[in-house]
Amino acid sequence: MNDAPVASVESMREYYARRAAYYERVYFKPERQADLRAMEAWLTAPFSGRDVLEIACGTGWWTPHGAREAASWLATDLNAETMALARGKPLLESVRFAELDAYTLDGLDARRFSGAFAGCWWSHVPLARLAPWLALLHARLDSGARVVLLDNAFVPTSSTPLSRRDAEGNTYQQRTLDDGSVHEVLKNFPTRDEAIARLGPRARECEWIAYEHYWVLSYLLS
Ligand SMILES: C[S@@+](CC[C@H](N)C(=O)[O-])C[C@H]1O[C@@H](n2cnc3c(N)ncnc32)[C@H](O)[C@@H]1O
Repeated sequence: MNDAPVASVESMREYYARRAAYYERVYFKPERQADLRAMEAWLTAPFSGRDVLEIACGTGWWTPHGAREAASWLATDLNAETMALARGKPLLESVRFAELDAYTLDGLDARRFSGAFAGCWWSHVPLARLAPWLALLHARLDSGARVVLLDNAFVPTSSTPLSRRDAEGNTYQQRTLDDGSVHEVLKNFPTRDEAIARLGPRARECEWIAYEHYWVLSYLLS
């Protein structure tokens, strides 16, 4: 595995914009169905009664499950293309959308949230950007806020193989879209301890749930 510059924000944006129309195919892989149903059912309670900021909502696969009992839910993504699909879903009136870059949160008003959620986003954040991204997110959250992050576990029989690892330890996959274009996508697969170690000093009561194809990390902010 050799070294090359980390994937840029622009390449991630473009890759997911081009994939938006059929992104949700990944949620119909037969071997993932049991995990998905369990996670969807689990996701409602942590956010009950909370004002939640969702990062990188994509097509909104998780949004209805997380938002079911939330007081309010702001689903955000850099891409209008993916969010257009999320906006088209039957959702509660408590759900709103905003185009937002997770790395800056520019455009978000001064409000603070009592919950935050990001599905399949952590894995795409270069390791060097995890701490600043989490600090930026946490700065928007109240003391006592609930944070839930979930993502893919690497399963050789189901995951795209890793193509290389860079000097910082980020791993990459070569992914081919339906139009034949090939994209190098940064995709990390942290262990429980690696993920918890990145959360920073405000994280407490960390809970890691290991499914076969996914992991869920839930914690409170002091
Ligand atoms: C793997 S998808 C996850 C979508 C959804 N949360 C899910 O779990 O199905 C990653 C998402 O990140 C979005 N994205 C890429 N770069 C971003 C950025 N800098 N800020 C916010 N969203 C970004 C993409 O548009 C895409 O929707």
